[in-house]
Amino acid sequence: MKSSGRSDLLYTKNLSKFFDGLKALNCVNINVKEGKVTLIIGPNGSGKTTFINTVSGFYKADEGHVYYEGVEITNKPPHEIYKNGIVRTFQIPQPLKKLTVLENLLIAKYNPGEGVFSSLSPSWKKAEEEMVEKAFDILEFLKIDHLWDNFAFQLSGGQLKLLEIGRAMMADAKLIITDEPVAGVNPVLAEAILDRITELKKRGYTFLIVEHRLDLVLPYVDYIYVMSNGEVIAEGVEEEIMNNKEVIEVYLGDTYRETECRV
Ligand SMILES: Nc1ncnc2c1ncn2[C@@H]1O[C@H](COP(=O)(O)OP(=O)(O)OP(=O)(O)O)[C@@H](O)[C@H]1O
Ligand SMILES: [Mg+2]
Repeated sequence: MKSSGRSDLLYTKNLSKFFDGLKALNCVNINVKEGKVTLIIGPNGSGKTTFINTVSGFYKADEGHVYYEGVEITNKPPHEIYKNGIVRTFQIPQPLKKLTVLENLLIAKYNPGEGVFSSLSPSWKKAEEEMVEKAFDILEFLKIDHLWDNFAFQLSGGQLKLLEIGRAMMADAKLIITDEPVAGVNPVLAEAILDRITELKKRGYTFLIVEHRLDLVLPYVDYIYVMSNGEVIAEGVEEEIMNNKEVIEVYLGDTYRETECRV
């Protein structure tokens, strides 16, 4: 087993999560290196989303530990984990679709339950102006600033994924966890999303990504974990994973076979 080191922004130790006897996560050890893009792959139902939900506080771990910046955060509430800089992106929840792109960014700065401009201090207006400016800088960086006054429900799937990344940036995330960032997105926009992720990596952000579209994401990732039945069955760089017999058997083999059937 590879050991966790000082460069790991987040790591887990024997993390386990059970659902009525089903071991959705069974002693999972995953290390996310600071400033890198770490990818988790694996067949449907192998525990990838459960892992994300457990490290970000949405599920309670049954056993094991989660460490972030060297501090244990196991089972801390999601809003506390969010405040510490771990932002897990979702498919935009329904209510937020009724807000504009700009509004979606502005509320991301706050914890759930807090008002957008709840502070009535004399400097509130200046703070508000600074936030709007920051939001526009982010939208410009993501190349969706022209959509600022569109409602989120008017955006395409790919634009929504970019908006989610923008919300994470607005919240001053250090670690952005994205579940299937390019699933269902057309290849051109998918490349645009991955290009922005790479640019953010250069700026010091760390990413943990779950994605099935290996054809698109592999050139952009630094390190890969493969899960099957709630366990990590392999880890390594692209070449190691692509040549791993067990990985080919449980995951890649199926992927290739599916592709063969489609053509
Ligand atoms: N809230 C839940 N209650 C009960 N079982 C759950 C729950 N969430 C996940 N599971 C089960 O845990 C296992 C792992 O599911 P998970 O969603 O983590 O898989 P995944 O690797 O993300 O799959 P996919 O690639 O299809 O998204 C599955 O058997 C799933 O049915
Ligand atoms: Mg999933």
